[in-house]
Amino acid sequence: MNLNFSRLAAIQGDFRPPSDKSLTHRAYMMAAIANSESIVKNPLRGEDCESTRNCLIRLGLRHQELSSTEFRLIPTEEWTQPNELLDCGNSGTTIRLLSGLIASRPLKVTMIGDASLTKRPMKRIAEPLRLMGAQFEGDTPPVTIQGGQLQAIAYSTPVASAQIKSAILFAALKANGTTSVTEPSLSRDHTERMLSAIGINVERNDLTVSIAGGQQASGFEFDVPADISSAAFLMVLAALLNGSLVTAKDLAVNPTRAGILEVFQQVGVPFELTNERVVLNEEIADVTVGTAPILRPFTIEGDLVPRLIDEIPILAVLATQCEGTSTIRGAKELRVKESDRIAVMADGLTRMGAKVEVFEDGMALNGPTPLSGIQVDSHLDHRIAMSFAIAGCIASGTTEVQGAESIRTSFPNFESELYRLGIS
Ligand code: S3P
Repeated sequence: MNLNFSRLAAIQGDFRPPSDKSLTHRAYMMAAIANSESIVKNPLRGEDCESTRNCLIRLGLRHQELSSTEFRLIPTEEWTQPNELLDCGNSGTTIRLLSGLIASRPLKVTMIGDASLTKRPMKRIAEPLRLMGAQFEGDTPPVTIQGGQLQAIAYSTPVASAQIKSAILFAALKANGTTSVTEPSLSRDHTERMLSAIGINVERNDLTVSIAGGQQASGFEFDVPADISSAAFLMVLAALLNGSLVTAKDLAVNPTRAGILEVFQQVGVPFELTNERVVLNEEIADVTVGTAPILRPFTIEGDLVPRLIDEIPILAVLATQCEGTSTIRGAKELRVKESDRIAVMADGLTRMGAKVEVFEDGMALNGPTPLSGIQVDSHLDHRIAMSFAIAGCIASGTTEVQGAESIRTSFPNFESELYRLGIS
């Protein structure tokens, strides 16, 4: 499916971004390991999270759709041995986190995915899970896991990745002894926060998190807040179009995810948090963003990278309009996301007229440069599709995003929300 985008004058109004993808995946998985039923309200109904729910149903989770926005999820003590392949679609979170849950149970499961997922590295979870005692085949999907009784490990991950950390922590829950994971800098900590909210004792010591095996999680009720990674597209557009003012409601603003707000501070984008509250250990707020009166260049590096890893494509669009050179370094992980996000963003933005220098671990963008419309392929990557859609809204001419159906992965009503808020 191709979608066309062209210049908007401004965007204004309140919007409730789609529910958080990371939190929805985890809510389903936590419900599957709890000792009683859970209620999950307002889960993200995007394709990635539906992959997780469908896989868990095949593994024995029972579910009742109380309404289109509310599920009752009933766990089974003994998970079911599936007799078919589990399809994880486009979702790295599904395949990696489920790997930890399967590895610690007496199941043999093969997981597959789409053409994008089939290229993504799985060694990073295979290695720790094998050290714990699981059998794991496949450096890229399909992967086959033979799980069983695991032993605790102390593991240092070479990359800051919540997917690696979470797979190990899930496996740790059923391992003999206390497992610890140390990461080079802090990645999103939703798994740790949610596990401790539902009765698991999780110890944190700086960059190391530990869990003793044999603990039991309790059922819970969770109203999933909105996703800052989806809100980012419209927040950046508001920053760029004169006279814009938008409020993203119910946004999860966990500091390990809210690095984009630190970039807004560097650039001079005005924003305000109101209605702050905490649900299941996650901070939530309404976030209002206005147009930046000046656009200073920004630097993303070091510990900031994991706090905004999924927002880098749209922040690259922002950088094309900043006055001077913005630099993104230490973000090699972008090369193994749903697409090679460094190569794909650099190529498309250069064709639109931006000045981009590419590094193995990032890029430098020198602005401001006017952008003009192009045809661009999403490479099966929702965040690439939406980044170029937003670039198209500040560009002259028409930008045609090919493969725009990938947007359904995380932001099913992206186009209608953009036009509802947009003033042309
Ligand atoms: C996610 C973690 C991140 C992120 C992905 C979702 C998660 O990946 O890019 O979109 O829900 O744990 P890594 O942890 O591999 O960096």
